[in-house]
Amino acid sequence: MPSAVYILNGPNLNALGRREPSIYGAMTLDAIRQACEEKAGALGLAADFRQTNHEGVLVDWVHEAAEGAAGIVINPGAYGHTSIALHDAIRAVAPLPVVEVHLSNIHAREAFRHVSMIAPAATGMICGLGPAGYTLALEAVAARLQG
Ligand code: DQA
Repeated sequence: MPSAVYILNGPNLNALGRREPSIYGAMTLDAIRQACEEKAGALGLAADFRQTNHEGVLVDWVHEAAEGAAGIVINPGAYGHTSIALHDAIRAVAPLPVVEVHLSNIHAREAFRHVSMIAPAATGMICGLGPAGYTLALEAVAARLQG
C-alpha cells in the first residue's frame, strides 16, 4: 500500500466549476481529485482527497493525518484567512509536510485575502496557479519525503 497524502479542501470548494468561474476556473473538484490521484500514483503515493465546509472537521483531519499520512496538501478556502485553530493544528503535526494551496492569487485580490493563517505554520504555499497548484504541491510533498 503506498503512503497516502491527505488532500484537504475547505468551504465552498465543493461548488468549483460553477462558483465564480472567472476566478476559480471551470474545473470541478471531482476533476481536481482525479488529477491528484493520477499524480500521486505517478509519484508512488496515494491521494486521500476530501472536502468539508466545516472548520472543526478540517482540524480533525489534520490530526488524523499525523497517524500515518505522508503529508498534507490543503486548500483551506476562506478558513485560510481566519483559522487560528487550523494554524495550531498544523503546528501540532510538525514535522509532517503541509503545503497550502489556493487556486487564485490571493495577493492580487481583496485585502482580506492577503493574509494566510496557514502559511506561517506550513512547509510552503502555492497560490495563483489554478488546479496545477494541487499537483505541484504533491510533487513538493514527494520531494520532501525523499529528503
Ligand atoms: C481560495 C481562496 C480563498 O480566498 C477563498 O475564500 C476560497 C478559495 C482559492 O482556492 O483560491 O474559497 O482558497
